[in-house]
Amino acid sequence: MIVINKKAMSSSTSTIPSIIAIDGPAASGKSTIAKLLADSLDYMFFDTGVMYRAITWTALQREVSIADESAVTSLAKSVLVDIQPASKSDGRTCDVFVENQDITWKIRRPIVDANVSVVSAYPGVRSALAAQQRRIGMRGRVVMVGRDIGTVVLPEANLKIYLDASAEVRARRRFNEIIARNESADYDEILTKIIERDRVDSTRKVAPLKAADDAVIVNSDNLNSDEVFQQIKALCI
Ligand code: DC
Repeated sequence: MIVINKKAMSSSTSTIPSIIAIDGPAASGKSTIAKLLADSLDYMFFDTGVMYRAITWTALQREVSIADESAVTSLAKSVLVDIQPASKSDGRTCDVFVENQDITWKIRRPIVDANVSVVSAYPGVRSALAAQQRRIGMRGRVVMVGRDIGTVVLPEANLKIYLDASAEVRARRRFNEIIARNESADYDEILTKIIERDRVDSTRKVAPLKAADDAVIVNSDNLNSDEVFQQIKALCI
């Protein structure tokens, strides 16, 4: 389903938008669609969630208490997270480095999933990372993915998409992905975690997850990823 509100309609133009923001809840398929879109337009793909994940992983690695807001914030201000185009065909959409260490897959571990919402709710962490994200986004020819790209990081984005799906559909997709890798998974546990991450992401005081007023809302409950991609691509031409 696709919902185009009045503001989104009035701001559309016939040229390909240079800054494309895709926001939405956990496991909504934003990164997959954004990568396809970026590749098809020859734009840079930038998943901002990896920055929050990289800070969370570094804090855990250095045994900085996740509950210690000021220590985690200092870390976010001092650690350089480097994101490069994918160097391997192992399913990654980009390479993520902290101090020359490739942590691309380490930041996907359950321990990072379990702590990243707390880290990303700290205002000092957000302002440190959002400033870097904005600097990159303003160069243009970019598809940037996150929770607050259209609302806070790049409110001037030429096209804003809010990609949504019910928690049950997102949990089912995540469950299927894990099973396809021959790993074990518990659907109810995945669903509970997704609902909890939605709650933390959408109720935090700073830059909560929400659709921008001028976003195009795409609900993928009844669409496969190719159908979502085609709908979003059509908005770019
Ligand atoms: O999209 P993801 O699951 O990789 O995001 C990881 C966490 O980072 C998630 O808890 C939401 C947060 N995040 C955010 O607050 N703002 C962004 N622009 C991107 C991610």
